[in-house]
Amino acid sequence: MGAKRQFKVWRGDETGGDLQDYQVEVNEGEVVLDVIHRLQATEAPDLACRWNCKAGKCGSCSMEINGMPRLGCMTRMSSFEENETVTVTPLRAFPVIRDLVTDVSFNYEKARQTPSFAPPAGVAPGEYRMQQVDVERSQEFRKCIECFLCQNTCHVVRDHEENKKAFAGPRFFIRAAELDMHPLDAREDRKEYAQASMGMGYCNITKCCTEVCPEHIKITDNAIIPMKERVVDRRYDPLVWLGRKIFRR
Ligand code: SF4
Ligand code: F3S
Ligand code: FES
Repeated sequence: MGAKRQFKVWRGDETGGDLQDYQVEVNEGEVVLDVIHRLQATEAPDLACRWNCKAGKCGSCSMEINGMPRLGCMTRMSSFEENETVTVTPLRAFPVIRDLVTDVSFNYEKARQTPSFAPPAGVAPGEYRMQQVDVERSQEFRKCIECFLCQNTCHVVRDHEENKKAFAGPRFFIRAAELDMHPLDAREDRKEYAQASMGMGYCNITKCCTEVCPEHIKITDNAIIPMKERVVDRRYDPLVWLGRKIFRR
């Protein structure tokens, strides 16, 4: 039997809530989601938590662990000190439904608003042919598991509910970049559209989105900066210049 460890878990709903203290057994090799499951099996059977694959691939178990947006199923208990209290809270940028479950419908709304793939007229489904080099160019962006950790982290919306209307967020900037790189996409104004209508102009390249992405997608370097750069071929943007100098690796 493993040692007991200290946890604080946020319990509540849309009307409010607070952190509750728990002492939970932790065994070797376990992740934070295992501890949540043990709590549900023992002293907190009504603790709400969204999860599905427990393999870092479904993007459901997004939560904040010691203030950092993380996947519960990919955060090893061995990454904390033995005497460290582990605090688990719901994603901060989205409304709480109950306990660790938030309403992420903001993201589905933004997905619906993102202009879809626009193949050229006269090319029927099944007739699309792509060179491997074109497939590989945007492969990185298709690794996205829609955990929305990047959306939750970006300071443009994290504490600014008022910006949500005009800002699609990093997950949808990579979608726009992916389509922009698609050789069969006939829509030519994706960059301008992203800058003006998806709110990419709000992004000041802080890179927080890239830091939390569990798929290690270089959201800022490989999607946002190239999209901005090409827009400002026509319009000078000092942030792009700065981003190129400071962040490019
Ligand atoms: Fe999650 Fe990364 Fe996709 Fe953002 S880009 S939703 S952090 S997998
Ligand atoms: Fe936000 Fe990422 Fe830009 S965190 S400000 S979208 S670089
Ligand atoms: Fe699927 Fe964590 S349960 S990503």
